[in-house]
Amino acid sequence: MLVVASFKQTRPDQARTGGDRGAGVRADAARVLDAVMHRGRSLKVELSAAQSRIADGRDRALLEAMVMAALRNRADYDATLKAWLPRPLGQRDNDLRALLYAGLAQLDAMGLPSHAAVDATVEAARLLKRSHQAGLVNAVLRRATREPLVRADAQAGWPQWLLERLRADWPEDVEAILRASRTSPPMWLRVNRGKTDRDAYAAQLRENGMDVRIPDHPADALMLETPVAVSALPGFGEGTVSVQDGSAQLIADAFALKAGMRALDACAAPGGKTTHLLEREPGLQVIAADIDARRLRRVEEGLQRLGLSAQLLAADATTPDAWWDGRAFDAILIDAPCSATGILRRQPDILLHRRAEDVAALVALQSRMLDALWPTLAPGGTLVYATCSILREENDRQVETFLQRMADARLDPLDATFGRDTGCGHQRLPGEGGMDGFFYARLRKQ
Ligand SMILES: C[S@@+](CC[C@H](N)C(=O)[O-])C[C@H]1O[C@@H](n2cnc3c(N)ncnc32)[C@H](O)[C@@H]1O
Repeated sequence: MLVVASFKQTRPDQARTGGDRGAGVRADAARVLDAVMHRGRSLKVELSAAQSRIADGRDRALLEAMVMAALRNRADYDATLKAWLPRPLGQRDNDLRALLYAGLAQLDAMGLPSHAAVDATVEAARLLKRSHQAGLVNAVLRRATREPLVRADAQAGWPQWLLERLRADWPEDVEAILRASRTSPPMWLRVNRGKTDRDAYAAQLRENGMDVRIPDHPADALMLETPVAVSALPGFGEGTVSVQDGSAQLIADAFALKAGMRALDACAAPGGKTTHLLEREPGLQVIAADIDARRLRRVEEGLQRLGLSAQLLAADATTPDAWWDGRAFDAILIDAPCSATGILRRQPDILLHRRAEDVAALVALQSRMLDALWPTLAPGGTLVYATCSILREENDRQVETFLQRMADARLDPLDATFGRDTGCGHQRLPGEGGMDGFFYARLRKQ
């Protein structure tokens, strides 16, 4: 998940909206969008690579904000260009289309001052070697400052297979899911209990001029409607606070943690939940495993920043025979790789790239993980299975079939703070309580 480094932290009047860098960051946005929308590239990879080449934090945040807003509102910008351009843009104009999306995003979703946004985006056309089309960019964006954009149908831009599954799985909630998936999320913070408490930290944020909400749950959470760069959070570098969505923070509430317990976080990277479990109970003996050794480095960085420790293990959760020492775990978390359909507002490129057959492969992987790790759980132990998916086949149906296969597994129901009870777990749909879509099931070994 991309770390929130918000553009909004900079007041619009302070933003880089003109000059070389203003145009440069818009050209960068067009390049990232072009790669993601037209060449099947990953948003996470392209955006991080582009950001790593930008020195100024405000420009990095502006880039992220433009790219995210353009992707979330892609269907509207597509409909607007179709209506406003005399001829549709061809494939050879892909980067120009991407630049126009970035331009419309600034004026529409981001509400930037129009003169600066238009001028810098027109200038960006020249940087993209599209000087001959700078007039077209200017005309489209000036029109957008005068006229409302053309709004697409709420389902536009969604793959048919996914719409069908949502209609089957959540017939009453499809519209709300579509709406929530294109909003910009608030910034959820997790206050480190080992260092401070959330009331004291909320007071600190208010002293720094931030508008902070203290939600009823999760217990360590604070919410900022207007995201800020992590560098603006007091004590971030010293581990006082982390950035983590509320729905992910609920995982720690699903375990009754005690010092000395052996816990396995089987899909740990980048470490959001490992570190939260350890903040709650520093005496826990945690193995933080992940198949991706490079991503495990991020777990290590998080542990260091928060002053916590865990055993890191590059390992495949489906083959514990290759790495398990035979000592049973009291607690296991499987925060499984999934379709990520609950977090489309953070990863809008999933709508472009995810295929129906990917979901079938993920369902098979999740069930192999459950089957392989269950024998490593101690009798009486707890396994929490979680996903950031809203598809029942990855969630309650996955758990239902697992319970049918494992005679010694029982569902240990969670409470309503985890979302709606689906019979075989709890589901939160995207946007509910301001949180990401998430699924949780707690299983107890007899
Ligand atoms: C949803 S992410 C985990 C997020 C993490 N729990 C957190 O809170 O920061 C899923 C993770 O599963 C890992 N993964 C995928 N297949 C795996 C496997 N066979 N064994 C272990 N980890 C796997 C991925 O590398 C990815 O880091």
